[in-house]
Amino acid sequence: MARILQLTLNGRARSDAISENVLLLDYLREIVGLTGTKTGCDGGECGACTVLVDDQPRLSCLTLAALADGRRVDTVESLVSDGRLSAVQRGFHEKLGAQCGYCTPGFVMASVGLLRRNPQPNEDEIREALGSNICRCTGYVKIIEAVKYAAQLHATGASP
Ligand code: FES
Ligand code: FES
Repeated sequence: MARILQLTLNGRARSDAISENVLLLDYLREIVGLTGTKTGCDGGECGACTVLVDDQPRLSCLTLAALADGRRVDTVESLVSDGRLSAVQRGFHEKLGAQCGYCTPGFVMASVGLLRRNPQPNEDEIREALGSNICRCTGYVKIIEAVKYAAQLHATGASP
């Protein structure tokens, strides 16, 4: 059955006809054309599909798009502002938190969600916040360093 989905996506209101059972991941990638959010396991195991719904990280492969009705959804495409990387993007770039990069949008959005809730997380809090995300390349050390650095940048005024 079809329905109208109304939401604020990356800061802009929009309205789309969707089927009741379309997943948020498929809505973003296939209907809207935002392919920054990645499909990994497609089963809630890897975190590559993480987006923010009302600032809370959500696995978009396990979330019906209809549940985003009336809410704010942010994807990795929302982070660059006037051509400038956000604090978390700079962290991953400058601290080498990405190698192949496939997992990176999910890690970045989970990290942005963390810094919005808790601007100065300690290492345990960072590890807990990223506990649903899997990376096959980095060994995680660089990722943790990236988020710590992003928190420092955020403290000096950069958006997360
Ligand atoms: S694609 Fe959603 S958790 Fe892996
Ligand atoms: S950088 Fe390759 S899977 Fe994480």
